Amino acid sequence: MSACGLDFGTSNTTLGTVVDDVPVLAELETGHVTVPSAIFYEPNRATLIGRTAIEAYVDGAPGRLMRSLKSVLGTALIDETTRVGRERASFRDVIAYYLTVVKRRAEQNIGHELKHVVHGRPVHFVDNAPDADRKAEETLRDIAREIGFEDITFQFEPIAAALDYERQISGEKIALIADIGGGTSDFSIVRLSPERHRKADRTSDILANDGVRIGGTDFDRQLSLGVVMPLFGHGSQMKRAGLNAPTGYFHDLATWSRINSMYEQKIISQIRQVRYEAAEPELFDRLLRVLDEQRGHTLAIEVEGAKIALSDQQKAAISFDWIKPGLNAAMSRADLVRHTKQLAERIAARIKICLEQARLAAGDIEAVFLTGGSVQLAHVRNAIMKTMPAAQIVEGDTFGAVGKGLTIEAAQRYGR
Ligand SMILES: Nc1ncnc2c1ncn2[C@@H]1O[C@H](COP(=O)(O)OP(=O)(O)OP(=O)(O)O)[C@@H](O)[C@H]1O
Ligand SMILES: [Mg+2]
Repeated sequence: MSACGLDFGTSNTTLGTVVDDVPVLAELETGHVTVPSAIFYEPNRATLIGRTAIEAYVDGAPGRLMRSLKSVLGTALIDETTRVGRERASFRDVIAYYLTVVKRRAEQNIGHELKHVVHGRPVHFVDNAPDADRKAEETLRDIAREIGFEDITFQFEPIAAALDYERQISGEKIALIADIGGGTSDFSIVRLSPERHRKADRTSDILANDGVRIGGTDFDRQLSLGVVMPLFGHGSQMKRAGLNAPTGYFHDLATWSRINSMYEQKIISQIRQVRYEAAEPELFDRLLRVLDEQRGHTLAIEVEGAKIALSDQQKAAISFDWIKPGLNAAMSRADLVRHTKQLAERIAARIKICLEQARLAAGDIEAVFLTGGSVQLAHVRNAIMKTMPAAQIVEGDTFGAVGKGLTIEAAQRYGR
């Protein structure tokens, strides 16, 4: 089949085709069907994607790492250029390059060319901005055409996850699908059954769709601002009494898609000036060291690792021995919860809006299908379940449900 489902995620990407009536995700990186949405540009060397890209950066190879590219869709940044190796490229071109490699790898894996695609998309790329949202989809469509797809259609990511869930059920069910990913949290309320699964038009089974631009990368940012950035000057005092250090730099350094902008010469000069006026200049020396060595992603990767560790242990620590012997950030699960509670509450609040859209009460939802990496955060999961305490929890394929659902949709739309 020359049709595929493509889940280009903020953190991870999958691509699938139907084989013997079953959606199968292609091996996009040796031994893995998911590939991190990451690119590493090394001067005078081949550009890397995925785990290999992250490893090259972590190993200290000189070059530019980019992650969280999907967050740039629908913002003014998409056409802006960023330094890659010796040259500059627009974020749009970086995404096009990444998806070209994904498509080519899948084609090698499957053994033939892919011409039709059902592309996943969040319910909202950008909150409360329909124009930006349309533009984000258009950009993805243009990129898909440019890299060789002839037929390009879209499906909401949570609807795709619903199609994957529907393969497992035996009777009719009203379900809430919750997909909490790296960049967005998306919800659908759907009526599912094995009979309905075969219907081409599912419009009447979709009772609500909604989403909010909050995902794991926002939890990373809040955790970083709460427990790591203070070691680099965030929240510290200036010499002039009553004045705090400016916060924007820390915000950018803690935001995956903004990290590289911190290495611009202009920013570094400004921070030198802040250091001069700071009550604790040694904190800014640490910050300047991170920027000089372009280790912003190292901080972000460590913070994300600590967040993940805290989903099954009570304590975690990040060592900054490379900056100063003995320097480290210790944190507990309670810290993670304290710094990100509001995000979890906003995610849960969106479910209530979704119920209103569907004109249903919480008690009408029989099952909650959970997918996306961030459902593994206990307080997120609890906040979701509190909105519908009686529903059965169904664990979806955390990183594969959306991709497989898009693949099922591709077979429906374009034939097997
Ligand atoms: N065990 C874990 N505990 C907490 N968070 C986790 C865990 N494993 C992965 N994550 C987080 O899940 C997120 C990635 O999830 P996923 O791959 O579903 O996102 P995505 O599909 O790429 O993003 P989106 O759908 O929002 O565009 C990351 O923020 C990652 O840190
Ligand atoms: Mg996703």
